[in-house]
Amino acid sequence: MQEIIQQLEDKRAKARLGGGQKRIDGQHARGKLTARERIELLLDDGSFEEWDMFVEHRSADFGMAANKIPGDGVVTGYGMINGRLAFVFSQDFTVFGGALSEAHAEKICKIMDQAIKVGAPVIGLNDSGGARIQEGVASLGGYADVFQRNVLASGVVPQISMIMGPCAGGAVYSPAMTDFIFMVEDSSYMFVTGPEVVKTVTHESVTAEELGGALTHTTKSGVADLAFENDVEALLMLRRLYSYLPLSNREKAPVRACQDTPDRREPSLDTLVPANPNQPYDMKELITKIVDDGDFFELQPDYAKNIVIGFARMEGRTVGIVANQPLVLAGCLDIKSSIKGARFVRFCDAFNIPVITFVDVPGFMPGTSQEYGGIIKHGAKLLFAYAECTVPKVTVITRKAYGGAYDVMSSKHLRGDVNLAWPSAEIAVMGAKGAVEIIFREDKNDPEKLAAREAEYKERFANPFVAGSRGFIDDVIPPHDTSKRICRSLVMLREKKLENPWRKHGNIPL
Ligand code: HXC
Repeated sequence: MQEIIQQLEDKRAKARLGGGQKRIDGQHARGKLTARERIELLLDDGSFEEWDMFVEHRSADFGMAANKIPGDGVVTGYGMINGRLAFVFSQDFTVFGGALSEAHAEKICKIMDQAIKVGAPVIGLNDSGGARIQEGVASLGGYADVFQRNVLASGVVPQISMIMGPCAGGAVYSPAMTDFIFMVEDSSYMFVTGPEVVKTVTHESVTAEELGGALTHTTKSGVADLAFENDVEALLMLRRLYSYLPLSNREKAPVRACQDTPDRREPSLDTLVPANPNQPYDMKELITKIVDDGDFFELQPDYAKNIVIGFARMEGRTVGIVANQPLVLAGCLDIKSSIKGARFVRFCDAFNIPVITFVDVPGFMPGTSQEYGGIIKHGAKLLFAYAECTVPKVTVITRKAYGGAYDVMSSKHLRGDVNLAWPSAEIAVMGAKGAVEIIFREDKNDPEKLAAREAEYKERFANPFVAGSRGFIDDVIPPHDTSKRICRSLVMLREKKLENPWRKHGNIPL
């Protein structure tokens, strides 16, 4: 027996060495951790249970029969993050560049199937040269098997992708279907086709970094949510994100004790919104003054900055925050911000996370670039997402809520549960100036008359009370009480039950 145990240990040691010490040193020299080191950092100490350590590929072409490495380029299994179950796969770049073979894909599929069965998230640590070139179509089939599971797991268990090296071709489509994508600066990139193919087809000269680096995807394309300086920081932040999420759509997110009391007052909120409606203020400051311990986990902070999304807690329970940002484009909704907001609302809805919406929106962005880009369809995504959403929805209008954007931003009409307004709220079809220029066009050459009309319109409509008189908002509240009112609303809504009519699925305007 002792001998067999020793043989087992030897086999394990060989598997742990992946593509060998030289390649491990190469990985380190690039500032990257190995697949196993990453898992160790991500999971609680000693909690990792590895599966399929001895799986090998079945390919015989191009000399592959003599080139087998146990584990076949991906480490899979499960473990704990702060005592909560998580399934993980971590691609090993030291083994065939982490390229995906049929057997490699089967390993990933196995843990995905198990995760769906037991109801726990799947975390993918991606570091792969894409389809294993020596395997041809078997590898493409493997990718499609993973994609299929990504889709079936969507809305059932959270899926998180960490991009920690190259991700090309098939390697980007699986992350694209997951809920969150983190990247590591300077060592990770994602693209469908690399710079050389781009050069051949479109004659553009572009570096891998420009084409698909962390900066590109967190600022230009919006494909990634966040980027971090190195593997260690990225993995630690992933642990933090995990703390906000439920394990599955059948569970609630964990509750965490907080220092703040639920009936807290924040007097500084009373002076946060400037008297001049054209003067911006930082919506993020407002959010951090309202949520537990000022702790806001923002997603996509550098993309479509006119809308702010992220997780926070109220009375220790996870909430999703969606807020217009008056500092950027005056908080207008445009194509990118609508898509950003819509996807986040849908995540929260799928995973039982209440949505808190802070509204200061002058409307949808006008202009040819928006219209030609399809703002009608993309703006409708946010509208659709809010209207479909059945989790508790609490809305606070801090200043402008104009036009269609008023309707969209979790209004009462879209089944907002609790809709509150600050006294500074202006709920109207549009701003007073624009309104009088249209309805009193005959006075356009008489600035004095126009100013009087504007003042009259403002007096009549630029307040929360017209909407209040119709019950479109439930109450006008002093800003300093906002946390308390939200906490109470969420307690009241804890057992909310609302179902949409049965259907196979809706048809959100994609
Ligand atoms: C097999 C691969 C591989 C691959 C890399 N390797 N990619 N082996 N299949 N796809 C191997 C290399 O041969 C090398 O082996 C080792 O991994 C490290 O690769 P290097 O090139 O030395 O590393 P680096 O310079 O860092 O470049 C990494 C890379 C590059 C950018 C990923 O290797 C590369 O461009 N690979 C090909 C990418 C690609 O075209 N993939 C197919 C995409 S098509 P040794 O033994 O020397 O260490 C696709 C279709 C799926 O994915 C579509 C589904 C919808």
